[in-house]
Amino acid sequence: MARIALVTGGSRGIGAAISKALKAQGCTVVATYAGNDEAAAKFTEETGIKTYKWNVGDYDESKAGIEKVESEVGPIDIVVANAGITRDAPFHKMTPQQWNEVIDTNLTGVFNTVHPIWPGMRERKFGRVIVISSINGQKGQFAQVNYAATKAGDLGIVKSLAQEGARAGITANAICPGYIATEMVMAVPEKVRESIIGQIPAGRLGEPEEIARCVAFLASDDAGFINGSTISANGGQFFV
Ligand code: CAA
Repeated sequence: MARIALVTGGSRGIGAAISKALKAQGCTVVATYAGNDEAAAKFTEETGIKTYKWNVGDYDESKAGIEKVESEVGPIDIVVANAGITRDAPFHKMTPQQWNEVIDTNLTGVFNTVHPIWPGMRERKFGRVIVISSINGQKGQFAQVNYAATKAGDLGIVKSLAQEGARAGITANAICPGYIATEMVMAVPEKVRESIIGQIPAGRLGEPEEIARCVAFLASDDAGFINGSTISANGGQFFV
């Protein structure tokens, strides 16, 4: 039976590449999105991957959405917590709203996504939890006190879940992408982006597919002994 995979934020950017890579690997994939109906409809039309709309920052919405997916598609074996946002501002200008929006989506959103799926994985004695963190959770980043805090927090979630899930056949791992050519990075002012590319030894931005291939491996049955790890995919920009 094909494994069932849920990818949050899975219809655009890195998430879309992940959804497609898991499908190519033989999984039945479901992607969630928060607001862009048009992009989601186009994604489904192009890939045949079903999309569901909910706000990962809201526990009740996430739980109800996951119950709907599981009743319509089947029990979720693989969850990729990928949905994330930025609200960049230097700390002295950062508002409580910018702080809270990023915490809700990027950190609490991981709890809200994995928590309702976890008991079923424990019962079935199989699960793959993959969280998309960031290089900026490892090194910090000017104007990203909020984002870096969430991405560092995501690593704590994964390392703890790895210990709790191991005996139930569940692994939890993180990927820390560096700067990848997505809308999120293209939204950074061009001059700043050029200076960031100058700091990447590879001399270029990463491609979404380069992250998706890491996810596909961690999601596979072959990766069962990899647990609690962090894969950095950043073109050599930062070593842990
Ligand atoms: N290090 C040190 N100083 C910096 C800096 C940096 N990296 N970036 C900007 N500054 C300085 C500027 O030179 C400027 O200094 P002066 O005032 O002396 O000229 C000052 O900080 C900028 O202040 P502003 O008041 O002009 O800043 P702003 O309110 O307009 O904000 C910004 C601009 C939001 C910081 C913008 O520069 C920006 O978006 N920077 C990029 C932040 C970034 O890398 N975000 C990552 C997004 S991609 C992502 O998050 C995906 C992932 O996981 C990798």
